[in-house]
Amino acid sequence: MSDLKGDVYYPSQEVINHAHVPNWDELNDFAQNNYEEFWAKQAEELHWFQKWDKVIEDAEKPFYKWFVGGKTNIAYNCLDAHTKTYRRNKLALIWEGEDGEERTFSYFALYRETSKFANILKSLGVKKGDRVTIYMGRVPELIMAMLACARIGAIHSVIYGGFSVEALHERIDDSQSKVLITCDGAFQRGKIVPLKSIADEALQRAGAVEHVLVIKRTGQEVYMEQGRDMWYHELEKLPVAAPNCPIEEMDAEDPLFILYTSGTTGKPKAILHTHGGYMVGTYTTLKYVFDIHDDDRYWCAADPGWITGHSYIVYGPFLNGATSFMYEGAPNFPYPNRWWQMAERYGISILYTAPTAIRGLMRFGEAWVNRHDLSGLRLLGSVGEPINPEAWRWYHRVIGKEKCPIMDTWWQTETGMFMITPTPSLPLKPGSGTKPFFGLQMDILNEEGEPVGANEEGYLVIKNPWPAMMRTIYNDPERFVTQYWSKYPGLYMTGDSAKRDEDGYYWVIGRVDDVIKVSGYRLGTAEIESALVSHHDVAEAAAIGIPHEVRGNTIYAYVILKQGVEKSPELVELLKAHVGHEMGPIGKPEKIEFVDALPKTRSGKIMRRVLKAQALGQDPGNLSTLEE
Ligand code: WT7
Repeated sequence: MSDLKGDVYYPSQEVINHAHVPNWDELNDFAQNNYEEFWAKQAEELHWFQKWDKVIEDAEKPFYKWFVGGKTNIAYNCLDAHTKTYRRNKLALIWEGEDGEERTFSYFALYRETSKFANILKSLGVKKGDRVTIYMGRVPELIMAMLACARIGAIHSVIYGGFSVEALHERIDDSQSKVLITCDGAFQRGKIVPLKSIADEALQRAGAVEHVLVIKRTGQEVYMEQGRDMWYHELEKLPVAAPNCPIEEMDAEDPLFILYTSGTTGKPKAILHTHGGYMVGTYTTLKYVFDIHDDDRYWCAADPGWITGHSYIVYGPFLNGATSFMYEGAPNFPYPNRWWQMAERYGISILYTAPTAIRGLMRFGEAWVNRHDLSGLRLLGSVGEPINPEAWRWYHRVIGKEKCPIMDTWWQTETGMFMITPTPSLPLKPGSGTKPFFGLQMDILNEEGEPVGANEEGYLVIKNPWPAMMRTIYNDPERFVTQYWSKYPGLYMTGDSAKRDEDGYYWVIGRVDDVIKVSGYRLGTAEIESALVSHHDVAEAAAIGIPHEVRGNTIYAYVILKQGVEKSPELVELLKAHVGHEMGPIGKPEKIEFVDALPKTRSGKIMRRVLKAQALGQDPGNLSTLEE
């Protein structure tokens, strides 16, 4: 362990002594050799109404099942279970609004609020198995809404509050949600995002929603459709909203949520996760990787609308009985020290964020950080894209004062939980997520499916099942098999390329498909292109990701206009605004260029690689499949 190659950061004895797992190799050996037992032991730390008969069922690969025959409910383990222990009065959630408002909830209080919420959903006719779309800002009610759905066995589908009309419409439609939960608006950088009016426009295009439940946050006037729309604060006063709601006993394999994510071509996919396996996976990974203890104040600065928020703002922390902090607004509002001010005020001990946020805050300089006492921090985390070593070192030195190990966690919406990640006792190398989590088997393969040598690039695959793995694509099991399990039959294809060094450390390079990571957000070229093409002046469009210093990538789009339409700088701005309206600000191309043709293969596929090479002034490589 002492002769690792490259730039290595060894953990201090203090960090090792504190860690749940002081000896990484020992537990990994155990988990590799006793895989089912390892996970069964973790599962035993949680509450089951009925114990499972079998840990892993692989009779219908790749449709794996976990904890078969077990009955539980993740919401019970997040809340009810803690109200029966010394954690009853412990803070579960501390929240700060962008306007400085502060709200706190003990485990008991959050349990009561969630039960009320669950009863309100029931009164709107929501039953086990029904889908509920949640489209909100980062307010505590978002967490309550998710846990309330779980409590009654409804399947939540959270849509990131930064998405807009068409993105929302498409996802509501696909899930056939009966109920939509939203807010009047959300505060973002001092302005109001009009969530309710965006939702109204989306609902004009969508079908199945019967009720819209509206939480008041920003207070501006909003349209309320009679019979369809209801204020939460009005229902909350009615007797139906009693603060106790019986828990639904769920089968381990019953769906907990769907979460839409982008992939290669076509519509976003609804990734499906379950009560049992997902619960055990998020509980275990957060406990070991972020070394959660009862006196921690843990802050995951992601948005609950993405998988990071699902697994590590909502489920993982509450399963662990942690005190979790959530902040509503922008990191640099009103000043670039906002985050550090809150980290100091709330005594944050663990901070988990994305490289793009680190790079963004780095730009403002160290002085903003050094105005604050961050001595409470003991662990840091990174997720969403590869972290460049420069940002890693800044994070380590300026924020972590050289004493906080950085947990660079590689995972995906599909994996549900950390997959390549250190735990605090492992030596770190800036830019590497170190090794697969305990018991996991991963590899890097070439086109032919053979493992590549040390430091060679190849496709990252996962070789054994894990509890929080996605179970299917909701409504599209065939696509689940073709997209993830067909390139190398029997192996899970991540869609990423990676290298492994001579020490067995993994270095993830990036996506090999048509996914663009913008500020850590996952977008599909197809969705951006279809937003462009939905404009009446556009005949065809192609979107690509171009490297960007802070955001990781930025979007360039190439547009063929319809015949007779005049090219103009105004039209460029109009089209950008149009994409913003349809998809949301994160989908907005930074640059739009009008072209007369797009490079395509003879079978008609756009060759984005050629566009990218051209934009970067690089050699486009092999052009033998180009149409003309
Ligand atoms: C893709 C998955 C935000 C939660 C996880 C993202 C990239 C994620 C890392 C990391 C290098 C990373 C991969 C992956 N990615 N974490 N630590 N190092 N790349 O979930 O939105 O489904 O995106 O994010 O390309 O495939 P997601």
